[in-house]
Amino acid sequence: MTKNIAVIRGDGIGPEILEQALKVLDKIAEIYGHTFNYTDVDMGGCAIDKWGNPLPEEMLKKCVESDSVLLGAVGGEKWNNVPGDMRPEKGLLRLRAGMGVYSNNRPAKIWKQLADASPLKKEIVDKGIDFIIVRELIGGIYFGEHTTSEENSEKKAVDVLSYTESEIERIGRIGFETARKRNKRLCSVEKSNVLDSSRLWKAVMHRLEKEYPDVELSDMLVDNCAMQIVKNPAQFDVIVTENMFGDILSDEASMITGSIGMIPSSSLGATSCGLYEPIHGSAPDIAGMDIANPIGTILSSAMMLRYSFDMSKEADAIENAVSAVLDEGFRTADIMSNGCKKVGCSEMGKLIISQLERK
Ligand code: IPM
Ligand code: MG
Repeated sequence: MTKNIAVIRGDGIGPEILEQALKVLDKIAEIYGHTFNYTDVDMGGCAIDKWGNPLPEEMLKKCVESDSVLLGAVGGEKWNNVPGDMRPEKGLLRLRAGMGVYSNNRPAKIWKQLADASPLKKEIVDKGIDFIIVRELIGGIYFGEHTTSEENSEKKAVDVLSYTESEIERIGRIGFETARKRNKRLCSVEKSNVLDSSRLWKAVMHRLEKEYPDVELSDMLVDNCAMQIVKNPAQFDVIVTENMFGDILSDEASMITGSIGMIPSSSLGATSCGLYEPIHGSAPDIAGMDIANPIGTILSSAMMLRYSFDMSKEADAIENAVSAVLDEGFRTADIMSNGCKKVGCSEMGKLIISQLERK
């Protein structure tokens, strides 16, 4: 199969982790007889420096016209003082909206080899951590009106959180369908004791529930959910929630699995053209040092093969190769523990590729 992949290296550690993912994809292409064509796309701080815009229109066009997009990370200190609508992150939000990828899926699964790296007590980890957060990605407060004005001689800032029924319904369906393919338990997370948008969210979820009688739906307030994720993560199968709650809870969920550096994500909308990215940031403090963990990006490329290209055996091969390298005791700095062998970013990439060659 031939696939055209838009590649966004981005800022900070983005280029180095992406480089390893592309080498892994090249090896997969070689072994399974595919052709992957890559088109470089500038987005984030590097695009601000080069084009004065975090995501120029023609860059977005390249992404929309591709078969899928693989992204490293964007942002950094250097662009912290540019105006809000010119920030590197704005490029990412524009990309998500422009691609129409309303559903962001973030797995929180503990790798048995990394159980010691979890900050939770062993008896909690031993009960198992394996759930997915389905986060609404192109609505809510991120995309509501943002204004700053002057009132009674002080500044006032407003960010609007709004959802329509149809926006909630389409992400709700992804939640139910994801649960259907797993253990059939869906937890809808909101703040319906305070927010109108959450009361509407809850009502729509319960309306949908009737169409999915095989899925058990529960409701949870977001503050309680933040607590339950550390108290008893084994209770969760699929969590569905709005954009900002999902942003916050998914960082928490990734941390209990040991390292945010390990977690991939997929973002999909109405077509098979998805956006795949690790959930961590651009970590400018370690950029260029060849010590970043490329696994989150490599696993994101596996998700791309599985969900956008229908290449499940190729995706399995990557995931098994990662697991085998961890079995052999190789670790990047962020997941290092006693008795293991510390390797850098490019070395980790090479080890995963040599596992692919071995099978
Ligand atoms: C994420 C990130 C982004 C978000 C930032 C970089 C805009 O934190 O993907 O979780 O808030 O969505
Ligand atoms: Mg985030």
